Amino acid sequence: MIKKCLFPAAGYGTRFLPATKATPKEMLPILTKPLIQYGVEEALEAGITTMAIVTGRGKRAIEDHFDISYELEHQIKGGSKENLLTEIRSLITKCTFSYTRQIEMRGLGDAILTGETLIGKEPFAVLLADDLCSNQTEGILSQMIEVYEKYQCSVVAIEEVPRDQTDKYGVIAGNLVDNTDDTYRVTDMVEKPDPKDAPTNMAIIGRYILTPDIFDILRDTKPGKGGEMQITDALLEQAKQGNVIAYTFKGKRFDCGSVDGFVEATNYFYKKGI
Ligand code: UTP
Repeated sequence: MIKKCLFPAAGYGTRFLPATKATPKEMLPILTKPLIQYGVEEALEAGITTMAIVTGRGKRAIEDHFDISYELEHQIKGGSKENLLTEIRSLITKCTFSYTRQIEMRGLGDAILTGETLIGKEPFAVLLADDLCSNQTEGILSQMIEVYEKYQCSVVAIEEVPRDQTDKYGVIAGNLVDNTDDTYRVTDMVEKPDPKDAPTNMAIIGRYILTPDIFDILRDTKPGKGGEMQITDALLEQAKQGNVIAYTFKGKRFDCGSVDGFVEATNYFYKKGI
């Protein structure tokens, strides 16, 4: 059972400056819903009700979003706009939210290690809210939990990206273990490789199921690419033991950490009518 989902949300979001100067990137809306709310909904759909959020300075709006706003609710009570808060109210009722702060932004690996205090010693999901996923039937995290239940080891979601974009992602190499699933046993992982050095074009996106031994590995992980502590480097240690599965998820992903991806997602969700 995966009961907790960790949301690393401490990054500066520099690609969205000046919007992210005083507003967390995770609070930028696709239509009327902030990115992180889509993420929490995806986790809830996967049966997870404990949301563990790694925040940082200037991110308090995330905590306020997943709380009651008495004044506002009183103001719109009984009016035509009251229903606009129905979805978020329901999330607040169904889920618990806990927070911890990353003090220095030393990379995704460090953010995940900071979350250890909220996770403990159990397998957990990680969701990067700026990778927004849409699916026809089952959510991406639900699909990944099924893969985890089968293999009982860490799982990363992957998709094929154009070869010239490998330097934006963690890239894997692996052996196909199940043709029907598109699951690979990972043999190698490289963070943001130059296209000419990339082992494949299979890129890791912002969804992970991690086993708790990752925390000890992270503690021993030195800063890697860009001087940041990379989760890819820690996962490579698990992969060397045969303990990482890469899963080609079914659905569509938008890189909402980039302006292009954000606009694409906005148009897609507008047309879809959400
Ligand atoms: P990004 O690589 O998108 O970095 O982080 P960023 O700082 O948010 O954005 P840019 O590149 O400056 O525009 C991927 C995820 O990891 C989190 C981010 O919040 C985002 O969800 N993260 C990254 C942390 O929580 N802490 C860090 O030190 C770095």
